Amino acid sequence: MARIIAGIGSSHVPAIGAALDNGKTEEPYWKRVFSGFEKSQAWMREAKPDVAIIVYNDHASAFSVDIIPTFALGCAAEFPPADEGWGPRPVPVVQGHPALASHIAQSVILDEFDLTICNKMEVDHGMTVPMNLLFGKVDKSSHWPCPVIPLAVNVVMYPPPTGHRCFMLGKAIRKAVESYPEDLRVVIFGTGGLSHQISGPRAGLINSKWDKSFLDNLSKRPEKLAKIPHVDYMREAGAEGIEMVMWLIMRGALDDKVDEVYRFYTVPASNTAVGHIILANRPRGTKSTARTSAKAAPKRRPASGAHKRAAARATVHRIHG
Ligand SMILES: [Fe+2]
Repeated sequence: MARIIAGIGSSHVPAIGAALDNGKTEEPYWKRVFSGFEKSQAWMREAKPDVAIIVYNDHASAFSVDIIPTFALGCAAEFPPADEGWGPRPVPVVQGHPALASHIAQSVILDEFDLTICNKMEVDHGMTVPMNLLFGKVDKSSHWPCPVIPLAVNVVMYPPPTGHRCFMLGKAIRKAVESYPEDLRVVIFGTGGLSHQISGPRAGLINSKWDKSFLDNLSKRPEKLAKIPHVDYMREAGAEGIEMVMWLIMRGALDDKVDEVYRFYTVPASNTAVGHIILANRPRGTKSTARTSAKAAPKRRPASGAHKRAAARATVHRIHG
């Protein structure tokens, strides 16, 4: 059966994509951001997922204000890049996984979550920036390392879904994935945030205390986050901080207890707090794969290539940063 092995939270700041596309990653301002994802990329190369489900929001690229679905699942075979602002990014067309996506749509809708099924959809920086941060720079003429199922969430026009609704949708997605017969290893991304506000008297707002508490609870007490009302996000994390509810879809799709593999936080990037976390489900039948501290971590690299590959598929390593 298919199985979700890990969840990834990542900001999707458009300026990060522009910095990458315009060769600015070594500039001190941007190096501070990109260096925080180097270990994550190494983790991803080792994890080698078969499919990624990426929860993000569209920024008037695929949907205008004429039609704004609350949850839109991409079931197409491919998703061309599009974008507002800087225009379409020079990244490869994203290959989908129509069979698994359609299976998720069926399972989740029959579980009474009313997804919009998108058999044609363009995807913007909300999805492709986190892909670059985790998969690295990929030439436009090349291919992303795995197929992707986009899940676009409305966080741009009131009312967005509640955090609780997102958390429960994550659980329904997990159930759907685990009822898919093919033996696939799936990762799920929650993107957006963290605290930021791009307009109005509070433009530039960043609340690091709130963000770090959110990451702590995401790791250990996600049910607490599921109770946070919209107004708290707006007040504490800024108008665009509401994007953080999308991380709860990712978290709902994971086990109750997970191993925190990695965390990174820096401010600012284009007036936005950048947050990132990797949470791994424990292999079935084990208590923990995480190293709880650098001191506690014994040398654990298997000697042979076969063992190394087996370990990469069975476990997820904690990395320190
Ligand atoms: Fe966004």
